[in-house]
Amino acid sequence: MTFSRRDFVKTSVLGAVAVGVGSQARGDSHSSVATQDHDSQPASYKRPIIICANNGFKYLDDAFAFLKNGGDTLDAALQVVKGPEDDPKDRSVGLGGLPNEEGVVELDACCMHGPTRRVGSVGAVRNIKNVSLVSKAVMEHTGHVMLVGEGAERFAVAVGFPRENLLTDDSRKIWLLWKEYHSDADWWGPGISNPHWQPPPTDDGRPQSELWRERVHHLEEHAANLGIAPELRREAVYKVMFPPMGTIHCSALNDKGEISGCTTTSGLAFKLPGRVGDSPIIGAGCYTDQDVGSAGATGSGEENIKVAGAHTIVENMRHGMSPREAGMDTLKRIVRNYNNDMNKLKFIDMTYYILRKDGAYAGVSLWEGYGSSSFGTPSVHKIAVQDGGQARSEPTVALLKGNSQEFPPPPKVPTEVQKQFK
Ligand code: GLY
Repeated sequence: MTFSRRDFVKTSVLGAVAVGVGSQARGDSHSSVATQDHDSQPASYKRPIIICANNGFKYLDDAFAFLKNGGDTLDAALQVVKGPEDDPKDRSVGLGGLPNEEGVVELDACCMHGPTRRVGSVGAVRNIKNVSLVSKAVMEHTGHVMLVGEGAERFAVAVGFPRENLLTDDSRKIWLLWKEYHSDADWWGPGISNPHWQPPPTDDGRPQSELWRERVHHLEEHAANLGIAPELRREAVYKVMFPPMGTIHCSALNDKGEISGCTTTSGLAFKLPGRVGDSPIIGAGCYTDQDVGSAGATGSGEENIKVAGAHTIVENMRHGMSPREAGMDTLKRIVRNYNNDMNKLKFIDMTYYILRKDGAYAGVSLWEGYGSSSFGTPSVHKIAVQDGGQARSEPTVALLKGNSQEFPPPPKVPTEVQKQFK
């Protein structure tokens, strides 16, 4: 496999992991962690405080005011994540989330209420927008912890949530583009009787770069034919080539030291129907312990489940680690699961949002950001924080320097194709 993108070269030389994952992690050209550091926080931390993934930033102020006025910590956290769930333009959660491979939006969520030590969770729920609130309803109105699929949907309707179509027109068109992108071997996409039909590019001795260029060109044509608005086309093509898995986590702590957390997601775009990621798994996508603190995750759900990420972090803090150390240790377990193999780890993206009971917090991530400069501007991983005054976004502390890479890996991308994404 050839990896020609400049970002990755830089990444593999500068940033391969070195810290504490055993002998397999050692390598001469490897350095340790990136330099951002939340450990410089003052000894007395602020309470109340709310932390969340950066897509919750604009909902922090209202939730903080609610918390400060005596509102419950879980309700404050849910108020934050409800924002992106209601927003049709956020394609990572709730309404407008990208659907599964059959074009159906399936949502996962869970919540933990520290003061009463109760939990609720729902997985693979269709037709109900605010699954974070449904997870709270499971907690309050059943003797169970987790409901999934049709049963979870029927329960949601029974307790008063409206059924609605979660697939927005924009998300439907992006899904349709994805179907057509994969239609070399099926009947999706224009048939041969269509005047615009073209045979799929074949490898008739041409370089990969040329085939790639043709593929992107076809995708853009398809996007236009499907009526995807010009300003959405680039995003649509990118999401079709590299299905994302956005999510939001939020943890809230009040001045009394009560703490709660919740996580909600539409999961991996174009996933197999029924796939459940880490978000609704208590101990993976979210974990809160009233005695210790709270943690949550966004990123590669399958990898996070394997290290029980949020629970591992909270247990680490219970045993004396700072929020940052607790998160870094958990990220190292992911690295260990792949024996420090950067050829695989570069495709894994993981961010943890961590809040200790005294108000100390950290945002840590496996990589500094996501995406290569081959396809527009890479994004930097951030944690959003509101602890009084102005809400702020801070870059996470990264275990590895550089960015995680798009998956599935594209072949060598010609410069002129890269420019189309800028
Ligand atoms: N972290 C979200 C998911 O993998 O579904």
